[in-house]
Amino acid sequence: MSSATELTEAQIAVHWKEEEYFYPSKEFIAQANLTDPDVERKFSLDNFPQCFDAYAELLTWYKKWDKTLDSSNPPFWKWFVGGQLNASYNCIDRHLATHKGKAAFIFVPEPENEPLLIITYQELYARVNEVAALLRDFCGLKTGDRVTIHMPLVVELPITMLACARLGVTHSVVFGGFSGVACGQRIADSGSHVLVSMDSYYRNGQIIDHKEKVDVAVDSAGQEGQKVEKVLVWRRYPGQYHSQTPMVEGRDFFMDDVLKQYANRTVEPVAVEATHPLFLMYTSGTTAKPKGCQHSTGGYLAYVAGTSKYILDIHQNDIYWCMADIGWITGHSYIVYGPLALGTTNVLYEGVPTFPDAGRPWRIAQRLGVNVFHTAPTAIRMLRKVGPDEPRKYNHHFKLMVTVGEPIEPEVWRWYYDVVGKKEAVIVDTWWQTETGGFLCSTIPALKPMKPGSAGPGMPGIHPVIYDEERNELPPGRAGNICIRNPWPGIFQTIWRDPDRFVKTYYAKYCKDPKSKDWHDWPYFAGDGAVCAKDGYFRILGRVDDVINVAGHRLGTKELESACLMVPEIAEAAVVPVADDARGRVPEVYIALKPGIAPSETIEKAVVYELEKLIGKIARPKSVRIVPDMPKTRSGKIMRRVLAAISNKLPVGDVTTLANPEVVEQIRVMVQGAGPVETTTEVAADIAKFGDES
Ligand code: WTA
Repeated sequence: MSSATELTEAQIAVHWKEEEYFYPSKEFIAQANLTDPDVERKFSLDNFPQCFDAYAELLTWYKKWDKTLDSSNPPFWKWFVGGQLNASYNCIDRHLATHKGKAAFIFVPEPENEPLLIITYQELYARVNEVAALLRDFCGLKTGDRVTIHMPLVVELPITMLACARLGVTHSVVFGGFSGVACGQRIADSGSHVLVSMDSYYRNGQIIDHKEKVDVAVDSAGQEGQKVEKVLVWRRYPGQYHSQTPMVEGRDFFMDDVLKQYANRTVEPVAVEATHPLFLMYTSGTTAKPKGCQHSTGGYLAYVAGTSKYILDIHQNDIYWCMADIGWITGHSYIVYGPLALGTTNVLYEGVPTFPDAGRPWRIAQRLGVNVFHTAPTAIRMLRKVGPDEPRKYNHHFKLMVTVGEPIEPEVWRWYYDVVGKKEAVIVDTWWQTETGGFLCSTIPALKPMKPGSAGPGMPGIHPVIYDEERNELPPGRAGNICIRNPWPGIFQTIWRDPDRFVKTYYAKYCKDPKSKDWHDWPYFAGDGAVCAKDGYFRILGRVDDVINVAGHRLGTKELESACLMVPEIAEAAVVPVADDARGRVPEVYIALKPGIAPSETIEKAVVYELEKLIGKIARPKSVRIVPDMPKTRSGKIMRRVLAAISNKLPVGDVTTLANPEVVEQIRVMVQGAGPVETTTEVAADIAKFGDES
């Protein structure tokens, strides 16, 4: 395999260049939560791991921890050992004494004529308790069990999550846009007997049938040996059922019906160990099987509370709106757990940002007085494309704005800063991952200037380093693999039921001695390429593994390829990322057919159908290309890098050593036409460094 690092370096030339600094306003600094210039020293490695006690102290503990970090069994870190707490108590109960009447959630339905739904902390308390009573007494769930939740973005989703947390039940939320099959796989892997779903929700002006995915999910879990005993179905409008699929007698129950028996019931929060798994979140990796990232209760909650306070700069009177879906890690950490632990007012918007027009987010922000706004480059690009002048029409004012999920192009950053933020708002570009629980790199908003296109330095207590393929530390300006030298409280504990894969994927590459019991020998390998500038700011270049970041959502090429292979006529499939103006990257599919089978549009359609069925609509490819053969090495490995170069109009490089070099030109002509080799320079770095391993 040609070195990912080398290719990354070659691509830096076409990546955006260093930008100027932007400074936070005096007004922002005057009110900020973190202005201590000594923070770097306090969180230096000399003060590790005790520095993170400050985050844990933001929580309420039933029993204080005995040890900040137990690192005796690397890389299975244990934070705040001996401590006991409950996440639901920390996110709800403890706020009642001081502000039970404050809005915890303001739910904005997609239809603009439907009224807002305001859930105060007191009301959240009542609802979460009722659902917890139902989960315990109607479903028989207890501490340590797992529950899969497959729901759209409605307030009943965090209510269900917090009810699980109250009981010490580990939740596994599956993004609502995933298909029934994808949900079923995750049910089976997590060993859930209970599935929580919903009948319907609004998307782009349509009411969408969501419950239809339930039967497929239950069937596909069943095929993997996992029986789902109960399916709890929330209804978008209690009493009205908006799904075509019938309820299954004895298995499916409407939440609004069953909850009647639990009206006004309360459930004591269960005190769990800090290391008790709060949730699983599945994410894509290099194999076809998604990984269940297991997050702890104490370390995770402490880390998201700390970073919400110091990086999102949330104060008691702020109105905070994160546009992410709760079905992804951003929603878990920075809608539900971090902000609620601080007693924040959270806006939840059900629908599409551009519905019914691109002014919708700014109308919501103006109307509700949102002052902290959190979204992703893909949404920013889309809003800019459809309504570049829309924000100017509204009188909203943000003090802080977040971007997360993908590298943001400096040009897009500037629109966000100038037009959306009206040059008043500080921007934090936060780099992190499902696995990491919370932010890894970002500027501290009142202390460090912003630099478009760069996430920033490591967070307090996070010490990133760039390594080459041979474990050498690289100096500023050289691209390589970004790793974190030390553990931190938000890091996931393991891959559910697969500790070997956990060690292999995240630690084996850069661990000098697998027998070492010293955490210094176990840097965390993030799977992203990055470059550190002289000022210590990290620019993230993108994934170095077989993961495609589509509109900020991670899809594994192996998952996509194995879905394609479900079409019986297909012999081989290779999926590569293509640069896309709006969505960052989209997958493009190359397929080779079995001998004797003629190419046809039917086969192409079958591929799209399988991708949507097995994964979801987010996996829809830009195009499906049937090729005479895959470009291959002499040992038979598919050269995805060559296909990625063709799709992205980049030079294919030297292909003479391939087993079948002639096929490269055939494919190129097919994709790019017969003219001379076209090249574009505006392609981000992670495309051409795509792995060659088959
Ligand atoms: C990418 C989302 C550049 C990165 C929180 C990472 C980013 C993957 C940024 C994780 C950013 C996330 N700048 N790239 N600010 N944030 N990424 O697990 O490639 O859905 O590895 O977590 O998104 O995606 P995940």
